[in-house]
Amino acid sequence: MTDFSHYPVMRSQCLEALSIKPEGLYVDATLGLGGHSALIARKLGSGRLVAIDRDETALHRAQVKLAPFMEKVTLAKGNFAELKAILSGLGIEKIDGVLFDFGVSSPQLDDPARGFSYMADSKLDMRMDAEERLTAAEIVNSWDYEALKKIFYEYGEERYAPRVANAIINARREGVIMTTGQLVEIIKSAMPASALREKQHPAKRVFQALRIAVNGELDAISCALEQVPELLKPGGRLCAISFHSLEDRIVKQSIARFEKGCTCPRDLPVCVCGFKQTLRSVSRKPILPTAEEIEENPRSRSAKLRVAERV
Ligand SMILES: C[S@@+](CC[C@H](N)C(=O)[O-])C[C@H]1O[C@@H](n2cnc3c(N)ncnc32)[C@H](O)[C@@H]1O
Repeated sequence: MTDFSHYPVMRSQCLEALSIKPEGLYVDATLGLGGHSALIARKLGSGRLVAIDRDETALHRAQVKLAPFMEKVTLAKGNFAELKAILSGLGIEKIDGVLFDFGVSSPQLDDPARGFSYMADSKLDMRMDAEERLTAAEIVNSWDYEALKKIFYEYGEERYAPRVANAIINARREGVIMTTGQLVEIIKSAMPASALREKQHPAKRVFQALRIAVNGELDAISCALEQVPELLKPGGRLCAISFHSLEDRIVKQSIARFEKGCTCPRDLPVCVCGFKQTLRSVSRKPILPTAEEIEENPRSRSAKLRVAERV
């Protein structure tokens, strides 16, 4: 698999969007390999970067990449769903900017032991945080037909969701489904021959759905974005890179809600809801990677960057 470690996605657009002040306080909520963090830290003078990841191995790995900047960087293990609590634990109340680069990192995908990939046969796991309890094996072996079908439809946009859910329930009668390889075979057995001939791997969408469910990814995004306006200083920036429509929809709708402020019916003479505008979109449309970047790093193809500023 390609090594993406030198390709933090949309790097120049992110740096421009964060509008980094050398004395500012910034958060990289998805440290990963530390690519964006290194770029941000390099721009800081007296400022500070808090880099968060829920995956302990990401924090260890990033220490090497961020070694030249460690006097300006604080690494924190945690789920960005608890952004405010993580920062408050570090004595931080207000920040100048926050970056989210959602999804999995290439080391998570590439390490067969993590069980994220349909390309290698390994234990069905998919936890970003190895201390969490829920694994892909637990979902596949214990969730009922309706629950499986729902996540395959909603998180994987898998049109054969009922057939795959059914095949899993049937396979369970023969024994526990332990490995990614077993699951790939079950998924393939549920698909019509035409689907198996498609360019996309037949297990891709189901694996995406399981990963999102195991890690509660969409809830974490909603939860984190809820906290961002009260953390940002006026003029502070929110930058969020999404890789699929489910993530992007949450980002778009959250920004729109904070941008709108008051939710009272138009015909009310005075506001009774009390909501005030807290964010302003910096660009109406999402910012997309350039053709050169897509050429250099095909993974960036589906990236969308949305940027908002605290008013
Ligand atoms: C796409 S990678 C980030 C890559 C990074 N921007 C870079 O330049 O190397 C996403 C990272 O976010 C982490 N992550 C995903 N959801 C998270 C969450 N809810 N809380 C904290 N970290 C999360 C993953 O563990 C992964 O390491």
